[in-house]
Amino acid sequence: MIADHITGTAEKQSALFFFAVGECYYAPPDSRAGPEALNDDTYIYAIEAADVPAGKTRAVEVAGHSVLICHAKDEFFAVENMCSHAMSPLEDGRLRAYRLVCPLHGASFDVRDGSAKGQPATRPIRTYPLRIVAGRVEISIGSD
Ligand code: FES
Repeated sequence: MIADHITGTAEKQSALFFFAVGECYYAPPDSRAGPEALNDDTYIYAIEAADVPAGKTRAVEVAGHSVLICHAKDEFFAVENMCSHAMSPLEDGRLRAYRLVCPLHGASFDVRDGSAKGQPATRPIRTYPLRIVAGRVEISIGSD
């Protein structure tokens, strides 16, 4: 039973795999992509997971939103592609572990929760729930 697999230690919860209808679903920790996400039809295709190498980012356009898909430490995250400091795109920034560095003035953000981790930015950036279904990265834009 899936519910039996999502309880337990933090270690067990750090990488959850769900098998349903012959497909494998990966739910990164700290995202809202739990088992309920499997039945959530708000998720929209963003990019093939194989097209985002480890330690890299890729900018995609999803439902009119510019989103940066980040492949950090074997996990995927989705953040808005816009720095909160001076509204410049983040897509040419470096990704160091979970930290995304803005290419314009050097502010940094934690891609796990969007929090600002380095000046001059003080405000967070938006993050999006993400799931991977059969090698496809899907994100949920939600309401604006
Ligand atoms: S625009 Fe990103 S740090 Fe200034």
